[in-house]
Amino acid sequence: MSSERAPRGIDPTKAHPARRYNYWLGGKDNFAADRESAEIVASGFPTIRLSALENRKFLQRAVRHLAAEAGIRQFLDIGAGLPSAGNVHEVAQDVAPESRVVYVDNDPIVLVHARALLNSSPEGATAYVDADLREPEKILNAPELTETLDLSRPTALILVATMHFITEDEDAYGLLGRLREALAPGSHIAMTHATLDYLPEERRAGVIENDEKSGVPFQMRTRTEFTRFFDGLELVEPGVTSVVEWRPDDPPGERPTVEDVSMYGAVARVP
Ligand SMILES: C[S@@+](CC[C@H](N)C(=O)[O-])C[C@H]1O[C@@H](n2cnc3c(N)ncnc32)[C@H](O)[C@@H]1O
Repeated sequence: MSSERAPRGIDPTKAHPARRYNYWLGGKDNFAADRESAEIVASGFPTIRLSALENRKFLQRAVRHLAAEAGIRQFLDIGAGLPSAGNVHEVAQDVAPESRVVYVDNDPIVLVHARALLNSSPEGATAYVDADLREPEKILNAPELTETLDLSRPTALILVATMHFITEDEDAYGLLGRLREALAPGSHIAMTHATLDYLPEERRAGVIENDEKSGVPFQMRTRTEFTRFFDGLELVEPGVTSVVEWRPDDPPGERPTVEDVSMYGAVARVP
């Protein structure tokens, strides 16, 4: 934060993913502890800022695809993050002003800024739920969700750069399964996830070591582990790829390398 004074209920001494990501994206809504954690991660993976920017671009291309080509008009964005340029409702409502979006995040700092996520078009709607991905029932039963989305109709579940905060012992597949059961046929899931797969063997231990030192629990996943999230779903072309190669706007020579970004992305349809 520019004043470094924390709003009530926010612990500025502990690094948080939303504020750290805001720092990498060039935002001002972060504290010294977040910046310190961000720099520790960057010392093991110096292109982390580029990775955050490319992740954000994937989010926008995926939402545009879902609204324009898949005809989706309802979005549930879990791990929404601090408001940034091109939030989900802005992209979706640019295509279809009647789009309805529910944002979810477990970081109280996002709640403080949620007003900026709630400037819906008059034809559509936006709402915010302060909840944790590890409590899918709380998300699904939140009045802000049930009053905004009709889950008997196709909905896009968005988990962009969020699932890697769910560690091995927290049943990431079970949590996604519970959310997926609530989605009607024709719904979609859009996800991105950090991976070590694109890095040469000799760099991997350094990345993990710095992640561990950074104070934010983090779970890298392989291509096989990421692909497992989509078991039983129909992957939309081009399937599981690096986020930079998923329906890119830029020609190959102008895109960052898959190694520098080190993040998988995919969109899949619920049959
Ligand atoms: C790296 S940011 C990504 C933000 C946004 N999805 C994007 O791609 O621009 C990850 C977000 O997930 C949130 N998050 C992390 N763990 C979460 C959990 N267990 N439940 C809900 N949100 C979570 C963080 O607070 C943060 O805002």
